[in-house]
Amino acid sequence: PESLEESFLKDFPSYDEGLVRGEPGGFVLTPHYGENAEELYNFHIRPDDIWVLSFPKSGTTWTQELVWLIANDCDFEGAQKKLNDRSPFLEFPYLLPRPQDLSTVETQMKYRENLASPRIMKSHLPLDLLSPELGKTCKVVYVARNPKDVIVSYYYHHRLIKFHYFDGDLESFAHRFMQDQVFYSPYFGQILSAWERAKTEENVLFLFYEDLKKDLRGGIEKVAKFLGKSLSEDQLEKLVQHLTFENLSKNSAVNKEDGKTSGSFHEDGNFMRKGETGDWEKHFSPELSRKIDEWTELNLRGSDIIFVDKI
Ligand code: A3P
Repeated sequence: PESLEESFLKDFPSYDEGLVRGEPGGFVLTPHYGENAEELYNFHIRPDDIWVLSFPKSGTTWTQELVWLIANDCDFEGAQKKLNDRSPFLEFPYLLPRPQDLSTVETQMKYRENLASPRIMKSHLPLDLLSPELGKTCKVVYVARNPKDVIVSYYYHHRLIKFHYFDGDLESFAHRFMQDQVFYSPYFGQILSAWERAKTEENVLFLFYEDLKKDLRGGIEKVAKFLGKSLSEDQLEKLVQHLTFENLSKNSAVNKEDGKTSGSFHEDGNFMRKGETGDWEKHFSPELSRKIDEWTELNLRGSDIIFVDKI
């Protein structure tokens, strides 16, 4: 039988051929997603669900672990189970190659449907492509990160994940990113719609990666309040320690190092790479940085969102 990689290569002979523009909103997704968009839009929501949403590389994993632990009353023992199992990635079964054995996707979707409450779901899909119930009957925690650090982190992610078959350099990746030619583009589209929703919907909490970096304790308290949970001083301290980059990057339930044993990641590089703000300064030429600033300014015209690109 052909390997997962071989079957993916058949469908996506190159990075560009793997990108399709879906409606509504012209979001860039994979053909596998496109075939199942309706099913994902209709995915049944429970009122006690909590959805962690983001553009990739914005601190999703970090936020998922934070939300899971708060929602589960700091069950650090339960948190030893793999995060992907505790908090499934909604569309992941449809990002993979069209499987020979459909039951794989079905089993994965059943797992998502049957997970015990409260479900902590993850998706990188924009709110517009998800159930309109999100943020109305259940809570949404949206996390965003400044575009420059996202570009750098997403570039390394593309180099890490074998199935992306991306072999360009950072400069060409940054240009692709600005032209909405990467998975889940356009970056600003989904962030701005979540930002607007959070203004009027009390069930949508908007977080910034940079704020979590600056004040993790404050971020935890904010999420706990949003979820209607109170934490003891001891729990709060343990959570802060558990969620530092130093500790989380060593935590095998969360750091995705198993991507290497399963063969989906290249050996060099890590999912938990650096965990810093302002790493872009070490990567971009002044010219590229200026271009990204101009692109950002253009896209943020008329919005009151403010990104901090270094703390
Ligand atoms: P870097 O590549 O800049 O290191 P996502 O989970 O959305 O894919 O985001 C991954 C990014 O979040 C990676 O960024 C990763 O290192 C960072 N990250 C994960 N856990 C973190 C933590 N505890 N503190 C700071 N950054 C963290």
